[in-house]
Amino acid sequence: SEVEKGTYDHFMLKEINDQPATMRKIIQEYQDKDENLKIDGAVIDQLKSSDRIYIIAAGTSYHAGLIGKEYFEKWAGVPTEVHVASEFVYNTPLLSEKPLFIFISQSGETADSRAVLVDVKKQGHKSLTVTNVPGSTLAREADETLILHAGPEIAVASTKAYTAQIAVLSILAQVTARELGKDTEINLMRELAKVTTAITAVIDDAPEIEQIVNEYLETTRNAFFIGRTMDYYVGVEGALKLKEISYIQAEGFAGGELKHGTIALIEENTPVFALATQERVNLNIRGNAQEVEARGAKVCMVSMEGMDQEGDTYVIPQVHEMLTPLVSVVVYQLIAYYAALHRGNDVDKPRNLAKSVTVE
Ligand code: G6P
Repeated sequence: SEVEKGTYDHFMLKEINDQPATMRKIIQEYQDKDENLKIDGAVIDQLKSSDRIYIIAAGTSYHAGLIGKEYFEKWAGVPTEVHVASEFVYNTPLLSEKPLFIFISQSGETADSRAVLVDVKKQGHKSLTVTNVPGSTLAREADETLILHAGPEIAVASTKAYTAQIAVLSILAQVTARELGKDTEINLMRELAKVTTAITAVIDDAPEIEQIVNEYLETTRNAFFIGRTMDYYVGVEGALKLKEISYIQAEGFAGGELKHGTIALIEENTPVFALATQERVNLNIRGNAQEVEARGAKVCMVSMEGMDQEGDTYVIPQVHEMLTPLVSVVVYQLIAYYAALHRGNDVDKPRNLAKSVTVE
């Protein structure tokens, strides 16, 4: 049956609002009746017998992969690389002895990723696809598949698939850690439930987030997103969302790297979105925000309860520090949505873009 927007003006807004339900669905699908994390045994065997993970993806899925790498390395202790599919095909790095290839793809149809999969299979390497579409090309052709359970995503700009990818990767990494006998001191399902509540709180603040757009983005031609560690990866995704649908030139940068070039672009009133959800680098990113502010930038500081300071523009509820991307990204999704809406753009079908790109 065809997917409907229901009462929403756009699929994108509906899909942003679907995210709490998607989180609940994932929690339900990936636990057993005793509420233990559950991943198919064959997938776990793949992970246990690999010495290195190679995540291959494009666009927003690539950005989810960057977060996934943190989980595999910090929780499970498995070295992980993240690669843009279109580059990997022509510029393959030296591989480890027992590589596992994880393809992340909402549609399961991206030609760039498939080209890598075809190659990897020829060489006899193991493959796992993480996708929203059962029966898609990447799902059929990889050895194993994990499903995102996000439901159909129609808007070209990906939202709920990104958060679903991160959630499923967190579960996969936790189960791997458990199977490898690592104690990660986190009750993931409980923390994901907290994340669900926090996402709902951000969605309820949509009118407030629309005001941020009025204040920072109405006339600008460019915008920057800065962060450190995981917040940097979310910034790159925030910038992509904004570019895709508002056509504002946007770039995500590591806070500490700004001074090595990009700061030259800061002028009077240049909007800079700064994300501060990671305790370890809270003061550093605030220092970077001051550096650009001193050069005229208008800084929108998005932080997290417990780490917030007077004057922050928006504060997300407190969640586990490894899971903050699931919540902070929703702020950026809504910012991109309203920026595009206010410019009169076709939110669900931005110019020049396709939902899935089946040509290399
Ligand atoms: C296209 C879409 C993006 C998406 C990318 C990867 O460029 O416009 O939104 O992130 O493909 O798609 P996939 O289906 O492989 O996740």
